[in-house]
Amino acid sequence: MLAAQKMLVLLCVGISLAHDSITPAQLKNIEETLKELKRENEALRSFTKDLSDKLESIQADNKAKKVAFSAGLLASGSQQFGPFDTRETLIYQKIFTNTGNAYDSNTGHFTAPVNGVYFFRFYAHGHPSKQMAVSLHKNDQIQCSVFSLKPETNANGSNGVVLSLQKGDKVYTQLWENSWVFDDESSYTSFSGFLLFPL
Ligand SMILES: *[C@@H]1O[C@H](CO)[C@@H](O)[C@H](O)[C@H]1NC(C)=O
Repeated sequence: MLAAQKMLVLLCVGISLAHDSITPAQLKNIEETLKELKRENEALRSFTKDLSDKLESIQADNKAKKVAFSAGLLASGSQQFGPFDTRETLIYQKIFTNTGNAYDSNTGHFTAPVNGVYFFRFYAHGHPSKQMAVSLHKNDQIQCSVFSLKPETNANGSNGVVLSLQKGDKVYTQLWENSWVFDDESSYTSFSGFLLFPL
């Protein structure tokens, strides 16, 4: 029944009531109308609930899509890192930005919060006479590296890569065995990444 028809029925009911004369047929009609109104009210309520659930999930998705971080190796002071016998994950501790908290300064790992295409870049600085070598990993696979074999004065190396990641994939950098990097308050050695677009 259309809303206008219902209004009409209710209006008739009102008039009948006002004249203190209501027939059984009218009463039945009123009951049916009320039942129908109740059903429509329930349908509307569940529709509104669906909409608000959808809105909530869109808002959560949008929040997960704001992902960008930049970190320097040392939070303060000045230090050589390495050399070690095995490869070691570099744990960058000076956080410049960590929107979305996808980078973990306890592990040095970036964990993709959504499926998407991301850009990463790292920069490494080394001192003379020791090898400087760092690789960027996606899960356990090397993606790109920088290398300088016993530089005469010092060495700078930078590399970057666009990666397609699934939610939960991990990206981090590792210092090679028998290598070192240097950092101080100028943040010569750093790691950055951001989500270009979700997929
Ligand atoms: C590496 O970068 C630092 C900082 O910009 C600079 O002082 C140094 O001269 C660079 N080293 C080389 C070998 O270019």
